[in-house]
Amino acid sequence: MSDRPINLLEYEAAARARLAGPAFDYYVSGAHDELTLRDNRAAYERLRLAYRVLVDVAERDASTTVLGAPLRFPVMVAPTAFHRMAHEDGELATVRAAGEAGTIMILSSLSTTAVEEVVAAASGPVWFQLYVYRDRAATEGLVRRAEAAGCQAIVLTVDAPVLGTRERDVRNRFHLPPGLHVANLLPAGYGAVDQPAAESGLSAYFAGLIDPRLSWDDLAWLRELSSLPLLLKGVVRADDAARAVEHGVAGIVVSNHGGRQLDTSVATLDALPGIVEAVAGRAEVLLDGGIRRGTDVLKALALGARAVCVGRPVLWGLAVDGQAGVAQVLGLLHDELDLAMALCGAPTLASITPDLLVRPG
Ligand code: GLV
Repeated sequence: MSDRPINLLEYEAAARARLAGPAFDYYVSGAHDELTLRDNRAAYERLRLAYRVLVDVAERDASTTVLGAPLRFPVMVAPTAFHRMAHEDGELATVRAAGEAGTIMILSSLSTTAVEEVVAAASGPVWFQLYVYRDRAATEGLVRRAEAAGCQAIVLTVDAPVLGTRERDVRNRFHLPPGLHVANLLPAGYGAVDQPAAESGLSAYFAGLIDPRLSWDDLAWLRELSSLPLLLKGVVRADDAARAVEHGVAGIVVSNHGGRQLDTSVATLDALPGIVEAVAGRAEVLLDGGIRRGTDVLKALALGARAVCVGRPVLWGLAVDGQAGVAQVLGLLHDELDLAMALCGAPTLASITPDLLVRPG
């Protein structure tokens, strides 16, 4: 009998047993009372599936494209910080597993491995998640390096002008363990996340370095820095999504930062339909937050997401078994989605339609 976790929830439990307390706390936390963290998941549990019968599902195809890049199935790796806290191979293990799974990794600005090294190890596309630093020259350098390294899109996080309060990080006075750095920012002198006197070291890092003045007017500057497509990540309002499209973005990631920023903000699945309607096919709409099962992926697709991104489960896989663990997590989601498609009578992505969903009264 294998004691390998057989679903993403078991991966979390196994990772908890392996990781140092402050590292697990950092990854697992949501902001304040963690209502949004829980609600991102609960939103999937509120929806039930009204499956079709007598559909030939012998052949199933979950392959798709996102901004033209082929994906084996519509699940991507969300940007998350500091992978070497989870496993010594860090982002290199993650990117190799993403390529193996046939999907895209979105690399965090706050990676513990430099973007050049990550892209060099990749066998699939890498997108770059961007935080805009007060030091605009350093930010420009980051974007140019990401493009020169071979990243294929820039994903600008727009829900974090300041960092949300994760109370476990405050209690732990979170900081990076010795030897780990914000590798991409070492050349600019912003590589350290030190232990502060009485708060989360990452909050202090944000307060000192990340630009809270970032606004719509900056998007033109950003689009001129690089020829890469730009996506906005962290949008939960239809009017913001429409405005983003008017600013020429190629994609929207419906996200509340995994419930780590503004607690009591709307669950991403609940925000999705209004955003899909407002965008009206003019940009691609992705979603993250709370995806743990293949049926979750199917529900998000039924409500109009082109693909979804998973963050924490990838870190749990990484903590448990490095590259193999991440590959296993992505493989489980692939197989669960395949099963859900078969049992829903929806053998193609086009047949995953909103009529499959029921919201019990
Ligand atoms: C970093 O982006 C975080 O949410 O901790």
